[in-house]
Formats: sequence, C-alpha cells, structure tokens
Amino acid sequence: LKVLVLHGPNLNLLGTRQPEIYGSETLADVNRALERRAEAAGAVLTHRQSNHEGELIDAIQAARSDGTAAIIINPAAYTHTSVAILDALNAFDGTVIEVHLSNVHKREAFRQHSYVSLRADGVIAGLGSQGYYAALQAVVAEHGSA
Ligand code: DQA
Repeated sequence: LKVLVLHGPNLNLLGTRQPEIYGSETLADVNRALERRAEAAGAVLTHRQSNHEGELIDAIQAARSDGTAAIIINPAAYTHTSVAILDALNAFDGTVIEVHLSNVHKREAFRQHSYVSLRADGVIAGLGSQGYYAALQAVVAEHGSA
C-alpha cells in the first residue's frame, strides 16, 4: 500500500504558527509518527509539504502513475481557493482523505467551504494531528497493507 501525504502552505510552520489553533507539535513530529505507523501497518508512506499550489498539483499528478493508492491531503488555505487542486484530485483514481488540524466549521465563514471536499472520500477536521493518523488507519483498513 503506497500512501502520499501532502501538506499545503504554512504547514511547515507547524508548532510555532498559532499554536493555540494548530498545536505545538512540529510537522517533522507529525511526519515521523505517520512514518512509524505506516511501517507498522506494512504501508509505504511518502510526505511532501509545499507553499506552492503548482508543486502540490505536480505531486498529485505524479501519484496517478506511480502506484499511489491513497492521498491524505491537508490543502491548508488552498482548501478554500483552489479549483486547480480539485481538478488534479479529480484526475487521480485512488482514495482521497482531506484533513484539517482545526475544526474549520467553527472558524471564519471563508474556511467553511472546501473545493477539495467535492472530491474527498472522507474529511477529518478538528482532531489535530490525530486526524492524520485516523486518515492513515482508514486507508489501511480500506486497502489492506499490500
Ligand atoms: C487548515 C485550515 C485552513 O483553513 C488554514 O488555511 C490552514 C490549516 C487546518 O489544518 O486546520 O492553513 O487546513
């Protein structure tokens, strides 16, 4: 089972960026925990963070033909703006899980619409980093480790 985890803009600042909203764990902490869990489940996990919309799109396009079975994506602010990321995900045939650290539904109105949700098979918000681990667990349960 090959899984791609994509982190969108500003998530490289995790741990120091508005910790009251996003927590004090760093992105490296989250990625390490994901890798550990993937390994234990027999899955191969790669992760990528980018502040650039086009780089996220390139990574989604690459996942169409490299055996990736599932994408776990926190598109961050692009969630609410990017038709291009939605289009790229629509061209990917595998499972897509959308993750948000914060509960976007109890925040500003502009965070309550997601383009990505039009494609996502599942959406997790408000569970902090646990949301990524739950997403990985769901993907492993759906696909098995092979
Ligand atoms: C976020 C929520 C978005 O609205 C915001 O722009 C982010 C992070 C989250 O994980 O809670 O950068 O996706």
